[in-house]
Amino acid sequence: MVEIKVEEALTGLSMSEFPLIRLADVTKVYHLESGDFKALDHVSLDINDNEFVAIMGPSGSGKSTIMNQLGILDIPTSGELYIEGKNVSNMTNLERTHIRRDTVGYIFQKFYLIPLLSAYENVEYPLILKYKKRDTTGKAAAVLKSVGFDEELSAHRPNQLSGGQQQRVAIARALVNDPKIMLCDEPTGNLDRKTGFQIMDILVGLHNEGKTVILVTHDPKIAEYAHRIIELEDGRIVAS
Ligand SMILES: Nc1ncnc2c1ncn2[C@@H]1O[C@H](COP(=O)(O)OP(=O)(O)O)[C@@H](O)[C@H]1O
Ligand SMILES: [Mg+2]
Repeated sequence: MVEIKVEEALTGLSMSEFPLIRLADVTKVYHLESGDFKALDHVSLDINDNEFVAIMGPSGSGKSTIMNQLGILDIPTSGELYIEGKNVSNMTNLERTHIRRDTVGYIFQKFYLIPLLSAYENVEYPLILKYKKRDTTGKAAAVLKSVGFDEELSAHRPNQLSGGQQQRVAIARALVNDPKIMLCDEPTGNLDRKTGFQIMDILVGLHNEGKTVILVTHDPKIAEYAHRIIELEDGRIVAS
């Protein structure tokens, strides 16, 4: 609590005035053999609860880098990330792991399902990590059903599923701990158009249920689903 009070004193904002997510002057530098590379260059951005935001920009402009920051997968070289008013940069690794697990769900272009686990086991996996036991609540099955995944395919492994089916499993896995924030990095990038729109319909449903959806896409038709478009260029926000 003391920490939060300090936060309020420093920013002049009370907790209730904080956006869900705040990037404050975030810079991310990658150290390469060829020299330092600034993938994010003093980026500041607020995202409110229940927004539906698209992030666009050319390849290499920093879209995935900003998503990794928003998703607490990486720490800024300088600047701060606040989630619900809490400064993530000041947290211990364990605190960061917990807030990530409980607040953020991720989906990616390449799905990143665990190849040796079945569809069901992929979705159950975050529950096992959290509760240290197999799921007996039926939650994994329920969330798979909620994203329109055919129950008969539950025992199939990812390589026995179509791209659209794999992305449904990935969404279910992201949802199983009921995160407030869904981070979607080109979620339709490996799918045909029709399947892509089906995946977008699921994201629209999640937004309607109250989730905050942040979506990276190259496709203007996909970006149309969002209520705000943020454009990145060379690690800077050029339009928002
Ligand atoms: N882990 C990394 N190490 C070094 N450079 C990286 C790393 N991740 C990304 N980059 C570089 O940072 C820039 C932005 O990458 P990224 O955020 O993945 O772009 P985008 O998603 O917009 O295509 C690129 O030039 C990329 O090569
Ligand atoms: Mg990317």
